[in-house]
Amino acid sequence: MRISVIGCGYLGAVYAVSMASIGHEVLGLDVDRRRIDDLAQGVAPFHEPGFDRVLSESLDSGRLRFSTDYAEAARCEAHVICVGTPQQIDAAGADLTFVRAAVDSLLPHLDDDAVVLGRSTVPVGTAASLQERLRAAGARSPLAWNPEFLREGFAVKDTLHPDRLVYGLPEDPAQAARARAVLDEMYAPMLEAETPVVVGNYATAELVKVSANAFLATKISFINAVAEVCEATGADVSVIAEAIGLDDRIGPKFLRAGIGFGGGCLPKDIRAFMARAGELGVTEALGLLREVDNVNNRRRDHVVNMARKALGGSFTGKRVAVLGAAFKPDSDDTRQSPALYIASKISGRGADVVVTDPAANQRVHAERPNLAIAEDAFAAADGADLVLLLTEWAQFKELDPVALREVVGTPHMIDGRNVLDPAAWREAGWTYQSMGRP
Ligand code: UGA
Repeated sequence: MRISVIGCGYLGAVYAVSMASIGHEVLGLDVDRRRIDDLAQGVAPFHEPGFDRVLSESLDSGRLRFSTDYAEAARCEAHVICVGTPQQIDAAGADLTFVRAAVDSLLPHLDDDAVVLGRSTVPVGTAASLQERLRAAGARSPLAWNPEFLREGFAVKDTLHPDRLVYGLPEDPAQAARARAVLDEMYAPMLEAETPVVVGNYATAELVKVSANAFLATKISFINAVAEVCEATGADVSVIAEAIGLDDRIGPKFLRAGIGFGGGCLPKDIRAFMARAGELGVTEALGLLREVDNVNNRRRDHVVNMARKALGGSFTGKRVAVLGAAFKPDSDDTRQSPALYIASKISGRGADVVVTDPAANQRVHAERPNLAIAEDAFAAADGADLVLLLTEWAQFKELDPVALREVVGTPHMIDGRNVLDPAAWREAGWTYQSMGRP
């Protein structure tokens, strides 16, 4: 199929490359000329394992092109909206400017036979309003909502081998049939692999996405709330997570206590979900998400307090090494990163903070010029009064406590992700603290 992908950010670039890799002819569109030039030359705009290889293979195959000219989308049978929906600057709701702009830019080039698909994460009701926008402009193309569930770090795999496909179809039966036929053709290899397909209306499909992220966020904040109780009682949250996770109604995933969730999705999605519920007059239904957000924010501040106490009550003149800046390992994304929040807070209170991250150093340097950057953990920890492990990169998990002790000023480790072996670190002479573990 000929597919245009509108918006070549994380979601769109991965989607365009993945669709080309399964045989479709894909045009990636974006208003950012630099990003388009980079992608066209096979340069990945972000750190994502496996992405570079599929990008260059798809470009070499001749099935993948990138452009800033929407007119080139005219021949496509499907147009997929993948633009960002960030949190509004002055409110909790999602900013839909880019989604509306994508539809408006597409309109002059839209063929009646083509189908418009939405993959961006949007507040419930957005698809219906976009359908109105299309109709008001005289376009007869069907619109379907087809949310994505990819995780950074596994983005290509999640796109090509999803747990499920969700189709939010229009009410009109003929339009729904046309949209479904296009979706089925686009995802033929996934359907052959017996990927479950869940079909609903627009509102259902939109809510599937935000409900999934809200549930994941709730799971993390739940275990972090339990960690708070563990800290007051001497219980071990990781043993509790293991034990409750063995109940297959609960499951072991997303029960890692620590400094909480960040990234471009979970924090903004739960806030947008609450904001939308408020607009719909069902504020109370999602009141629990406010607590999910509160627990999450508390964990970051808790680490700042732990660090202050570890340093004898004041940050002034103290040297603190921060291992990790990305919101999670295998990513250079620092959006809403708890690690970067903690590093900045501690620096703001007078400590001399040195950050190191295997992928995000450049980004940190650009975004937080006040933070010193080191090449690796040993350079960051050189002479440190305190070391904080805040993103669980493999290279940090494998650190040798004996060797690291040689370079620090004071061997004090706060493990914000509960990934180090307490016994090994204590044996090597460290004061070791973690999150919700004795
Ligand atoms: C999340 C969802 O997992 C994806 O399914 C969804 O498609 C995506 O958002 C999106 O909406 O686009 P992602 O933001 O890549 O994916 O990150 P996650 O793997 O969900 O991790 C989010 C945060 O939770 C990270 O900061 C991670 O460190 C933290 N986390 C995760 C925990 O603190 N504990 C856990 O047990 C798991």
